[in-house]
Amino acid sequence: MCAMENEWKWSLERRWSVGMLMAVVVAVQAMVGNVVQVAAAQGVWRVVSKNVGITAMHAAVTPVTGNVVLLHQSNNGPSNMTFPDGRCKLYPNDRFLPVDCYVHSVILDPNSGVVRPLFIQTDTQCSSGQFLADGQLGQTGGDREGAQVIRNLARNCFFVTPTNTICDWVEGAQKLNVGRWYATNQLLPDGRQIIVGGRGQPSYEYSPPSANSKAIPMDFLKTSADVTTSATDTNNIYPYVHLLPTTGYLYIFANRDSIIFDYINNVVIRKFPKIPGNPRNYPSAGSSVMLPLKWQDNFQTAEVLVCGGATSMLGNQQPQALCSVTCGRIQVTTANSKWKMESMPIPRCMGDMILLPDMNVLIINGAKRGLQGWGMQSEPTLNPVLYAPKKTAGQRFSVMAGTVTPRVYHSTANLLTDGSVMVAGSNTNEFYTFIKTNKWWPPVGRWWPTELSVEAFTPPYAQTVAGGRPRMLSPANGSVVKLSSVLQLGFWDDISPKPATDTFLFTLSSPPFSTHSFSQGQRLVSIKSLSITTLPGGRVENGVSKNLRTANLQIPADVTVLPPAYYMLWVVKNGNPSKSCLWIQITK
Ligand SMILES: *[C@@H]1O[C@H](CO)[C@@H](O)[C@H](O)[C@H]1NC(C)=O
Ligand SMILES: *[C@@H]1O[C@H](CO)[C@@H](O)[C@H](O)[C@H]1NC(C)=O
Repeated sequence: MCAMENEWKWSLERRWSVGMLMAVVVAVQAMVGNVVQVAAAQGVWRVVSKNVGITAMHAAVTPVTGNVVLLHQSNNGPSNMTFPDGRCKLYPNDRFLPVDCYVHSVILDPNSGVVRPLFIQTDTQCSSGQFLADGQLGQTGGDREGAQVIRNLARNCFFVTPTNTICDWVEGAQKLNVGRWYATNQLLPDGRQIIVGGRGQPSYEYSPPSANSKAIPMDFLKTSADVTTSATDTNNIYPYVHLLPTTGYLYIFANRDSIIFDYINNVVIRKFPKIPGNPRNYPSAGSSVMLPLKWQDNFQTAEVLVCGGATSMLGNQQPQALCSVTCGRIQVTTANSKWKMESMPIPRCMGDMILLPDMNVLIINGAKRGLQGWGMQSEPTLNPVLYAPKKTAGQRFSVMAGTVTPRVYHSTANLLTDGSVMVAGSNTNEFYTFIKTNKWWPPVGRWWPTELSVEAFTPPYAQTVAGGRPRMLSPANGSVVKLSSVLQLGFWDDISPKPATDTFLFTLSSPPFSTHSFSQGQRLVSIKSLSITTLPGGRVENGVSKNLRTANLQIPADVTVLPPAYYMLWVVKNGNPSKSCLWIQITK
């Protein structure tokens, strides 16, 4: 929707003039129908920064530093921050600022709130990205002059201080074959990213491109297009893409359809039934994760979860239409599997789904009604919801403590290195606008102000279970780890009242690229501990007795389980993840 704003506004305004009575009825229903029960101690919110200078359409947590790259669009007028050294972009074709001195990308330290501006030349609106095997951030496409651009942010730029250092995005050394706007990227086992789809672009390609590479047509993105909505926003852009273990095929979900796709041979291996209910992809704005891969079955099975989305269609925008309350879960590695449907406690569109270190899923951000931006949504969902995949159906969801800050269209969510989930952005307007207007009756806020604040939510994990959060030491034999090797990890943990019942879980999570309700490249893998040894040298710190332990961890052998890249390593004791992760680089 990023560029159709005017068309949308006008069609909506016309309908309001005739549709007011209808709206009153729906608004009254909303007030009685949405009481949310929150049990005590369901997580904690904190403000990371009241103003980071920009709003965030895209966000990614950078390997090793744990700082967060925030990125907005860069061809759409002023942000709230100018470059301290007076730098400006000169671009005569910019729609609003041929001389643009405003910041459109920053790197943020989520502990201190300090930001360092990053210079960006080309329009990153509705673009996509992924960390590459060597840890640099690869970023592709966007709107207008940015549509074919490949950008990289090098690892040595992932710091915030001193804030006046120049270390920026590098753009345009190579080009995509075609413009890609609203595409999805996924890191592949061979180190390239695959870039799937985009608005009006039923094809895929790779970055970095090879000498003779072309965009490869993809029929699935034609057959899944919803032509009843609009010619371009076909409910199948920003497809959900998950790299499957063992086969290395891709699971691709678009609209209500999904397939297993062999990208090397351009062959559909399996086609799944349509998910019941509404379309889920952009602009319907549901979300999806591949549930954690498990060492117990040697990573043979993969399940996909798809939640929420708009129930009103683009061609028939209804800011008051209740969003979908359903999630579909499907085992994608067995033939003939079917969607199993579940109901969330709160309907949600524009939510983000985050894989937590303890293998649960957090669903956060979004709204209860409408779809996407430009006044098309109402009633922000201020309460995240936790989904516990291992529990029995019917008992998997719990409602978390709410925030006061709406994060609706163009907002992001990312797992931080302390196990909390950072949320940033939200802009339902075309430009930076700090006034909340109720331009159209009824008085439910639909035009939310552009959000410059950043918050983080710490899920409850198992804080009530004694044992505390472990503290990890650097791996005994380095943090560059080969597939199929054994990693020796040292960690401290509190001696619990019933040590015999202690449980330990070890997980690796990728740092994904969060944009438009989907975390591109998100995966979480549990790994086997071959042994856990308690060493002599336990001690008492602040009155708490602690064990010093080592665990020998079996790193999976298969590049399709862990495509070589940087991962966050977690130890989870009795449900409590370590105070911080350790970054390790997986290599072939
Ligand atoms: C940022 O917003 C504040 C509050 O509206 C305003 O006072 C300030 O001038 C803005 N800064 C820039 C650079 O736009
Ligand atoms: C790391 O240390 C463990 C324990 O000594 C050992 O078994 C493993 O082989 C080592 N791994 C590497 C890659 O050297």
